[in-house]
Amino acid sequence: MADTAIHKGLAGVVADTTAISTVDAATDSLTYRGYPVQDLAETRTFEEVAHLIWTGDLPDREQLTAFTARERAGRALDRSTLDLLRRVPESAHPMDVLRTAISYLGADDPAEDRGADLATAERLMARLPSVVAADRRRRHGLDPIPPDPSLGFAENFFHMCFGEVPGPGVVRCFEASLVLYAEHGFNASTFAARVVTSTRSDAYSAVTAAIGALKGPLHGGANEAVMHMLNEIGTADRAEEWVDRALAGKRRIMGFGHRVYRNGDSRVPTMHRALVRMAEARGAGDLMELYAAVERAMADRKGLHPNLDYPAGPAYHLMGFDVPMFTPIFVMSRITGWTAHILEQQAANALIRPLSAYSGPPHRAVPAQRSQV
Ligand code: CMC
Repeated sequence: MADTAIHKGLAGVVADTTAISTVDAATDSLTYRGYPVQDLAETRTFEEVAHLIWTGDLPDREQLTAFTARERAGRALDRSTLDLLRRVPESAHPMDVLRTAISYLGADDPAEDRGADLATAERLMARLPSVVAADRRRRHGLDPIPPDPSLGFAENFFHMCFGEVPGPGVVRCFEASLVLYAEHGFNASTFAARVVTSTRSDAYSAVTAAIGALKGPLHGGANEAVMHMLNEIGTADRAEEWVDRALAGKRRIMGFGHRVYRNGDSRVPTMHRALVRMAEARGAGDLMELYAAVERAMADRKGLHPNLDYPAGPAYHLMGFDVPMFTPIFVMSRITGWTAHILEQQAANALIRPLSAYSGPPHRAVPAQRSQV
C-alpha cells in the first residue's frame, strides 16, 4: 500500500541509508565517517578529508602520498577544454560555465559509460579548480595559469587564480572552508546526483545535475547572496532597519536558517573563527560590525541562526575571490561528497521514483471535435 501522506519538500523523509555522514543527534554535530567535521577542519588537509569521504578512512602516509600524486598529475586541462571555456559568454554565471565544462569533460571521457569509480571522482576533484581559476582569469582579461604540482590543493588554487600563494594563515582558512563544505547527507544537490545515478546514468550527468541544484540561492548560491546582501545594506547602523523591511516584504535573509539544524549549524563556529582570522589578516573595515549586526537582528526578530554560507561568503571576499566564484568554490569541495554518494547509490541501487498526489481536473472525455480557429 502506498503511503498517501504528502511530505512537501520531502521534509522529514528518510529516503535511504548512507555511511558517509550524519548530523549526530546527541551533539548536533556533523560527522564525516564518524569524525566531527570541526575537528577535521582544524587538523586535516582537504586531500585527507577527500580520501576519508571516499574510502571511509583517513589515509596513512603511503596512501596520502599516492593520492596527492594522482591529484596533482590530474589537474591540467587540455587545449579543447580551455578553448570551450573561452567560448562560453562572459555574461554567463561561473556556475553555468562550470556546468558546461563538466558536461564537456564527460563527453570527452572514454570511460564515461562504464559507471562511476574512484578514478572518475579523483579526476573531477583534480580538474574542477583549474576550470574555476581559468574562468576567473579570462573574466579579468588574463591567460590561465597552469597548475603547479609542487603545491597542495588549496595553495594551487590561489596560484592558478592570482599567480601567487598567500601566507599559510589565509590558505588554512580556505582549506577549513573546503573541509566544512565537503559533505552534508541528502541535501538537494547530492540528492539530485543520487536521482540521476539511480537511473544508471553516468557520473558526469549526475554531477552536472548537482551543479544545477547547488546554484540556487536556497542552497549553495546563498554564499554569494550573503555578500550581495551585506553590500546592499552597506553599514552596521542600517542593518536592523534593512532586516525589518526585508522580513516585512517576506524576503528570505540569505545565510540564515537550515532544514536540518534548528539550533544552529555545527559548522558555523569553525568558519566564523576563520572569518575573524581573515578580517585580522586582511583588514575588513566595518564589515565585521555589519556582519554581527545582521546576525543580532535575525536572532532577535526570527530566532534564526546563521548557516555555513553566512561566514563563508565574507571570508571568501576577504581572501580576494570575486563574489560569483563563491558557489563554484563550494563545488570544488562538494564534488567529494557528491561522488561518494554516486558510488554509494551505484553500489546498492534502487531507482528513485516517488509518487505524486494528483490535484488536476477529474477524469473527463476528450471533446469530439477540435474547436475552430
Ligand atoms: N529568512 C527569513 N525567514 C526564514 C528564513 C530566512 N533565511 N529561513 C526560514 N525562514 C522562515 C520561513 O519564512 C518560515 O516562516 P513561516 O513559518 O512564518 O512561513 C520558517 O522560517 C520555516 O521556514 P521553511 O522554509 O519551512 O524552512 P526550510 O527548512 O524549508 O528552509 C532554508 C531552509 C535553508 C531553505 C531556509 O532557511 C532559507 O531559505 N534560508 C536562506 C537561504 C540559505 O541561507 N540557504 C543556505 C542553506 S545551508 C547551506 C547550503 O545548503 O548551501
